[in-house]
Amino acid sequence: MAEEIITRSSEETTNWGRELAKRLTAPVLVLLTGDLGSGKTTLTKGIVAGLGAASENEVTSPTFTLVHVYGKASKVYHADLYRIDSFHDFETLGLEDVFAKPAIVILEWSERFPLQSSWPKVHIRMEHHGGDSRRISVL
Ligand SMILES: Nc1ncnc2c1ncn2[C@@H]1O[C@H](COP(=O)(O)OP(=O)(O)O)[C@@H](O)[C@H]1O
Ligand SMILES: [Mg+2]
Repeated sequence: MAEEIITRSSEETTNWGRELAKRLTAPVLVLLTGDLGSGKTTLTKGIVAGLGAASENEVTSPTFTLVHVYGKASKVYHADLYRIDSFHDFETLGLEDVFAKPAIVILEWSERFPLQSSWPKVHIRMEHHGGDSRRISVL
């Protein structure tokens, strides 16, 4: 499903995330790459809201808190590997629990640690594209 879109505001990015959510079924890993401020957390707000797991406002950056979990019956996990500098740090994330049952797992800075998982993966690259524009590529 290779595709590329340009969004021109954070609202356009969250709206696209809501659309993407319709195509996601657990188990799936959504791997987000892109510089700081490229919109990974903003996109996640749209995905989580689109899945009906939480409202956009409830979704915040897990940079310091490691792993956020949303939803009741079916879980949506949101983690950020930005500050993960060692394999030991990576292990302390407790991601094994995340993979215990089919879930939707959204990872920011996913390229920092390659995950060994047989779950289907959706790779999304986000890039600054001048001002409030962002290029979102589904790889
Ligand atoms: N088109 C856009 N898409 C996403 N975010 C945008 C866009 N235009 C401006 N922004 C702003 O850029 C910032 C993106 O931050 P964030 O989503 O936390 O990025 P990341 O998680 O990649 O570091 C937010 O302040 C957001 O409001
Ligand atoms: Mg972020």
